Amino acid sequence: MKITDKELVKLADDARGRSYCPYSNYSVGAALLTKDGKVYTGANIEVSSHTPTMCAERVAFARAVHEGRRDFVAIAVVGGPRGQDVDFLCPPCGVCRQVMSEFCKGDFKIILTDGKEHRVLTLDEILPYRFGLDV
Ligand code: THU
Repeated sequence: MKITDKELVKLADDARGRSYCPYSNYSVGAALLTKDGKVYTGANIEVSSHTPTMCAERVAFARAVHEGRRDFVAIAVVGGPRGQDVDFLCPPCGVCRQVMSEFCKGDFKIILTDGKEHRVLTLDEILPYRFGLDV
């Protein structure tokens, strides 16, 4: 059965509850969808020295790629102050955009929410003129 954008956002929001974010108190969840309908979730994991902190999106990509998946069609990202309902979009950071570009084509969908409406963007829109080596 085909998963809807709304269902993917719900899975990202559930994953957000498993964020570890004692430093920023900003929790983010992500739900990454493969072509055949499997979903890999992630949430941000912070580290006191900051640099090793992992964004929700990259946790989801790492879980999926490690399981041999590289056929992604969409990711939902939901973020905001910990313990509160979201009311702003949480667009992926630049590093996560580059990671998306490693595994996804320009039509890869990024689904964001402000808690009321969804906003659907493509990788081409959020990371034009991206660097990449054709391997
Ligand atoms: N964060 C994400 O998980 N994804 C993003 O795309 C933006 C930022 C996390 C990293 C950090 O734990 C917290 O949000 C505040 O920057």
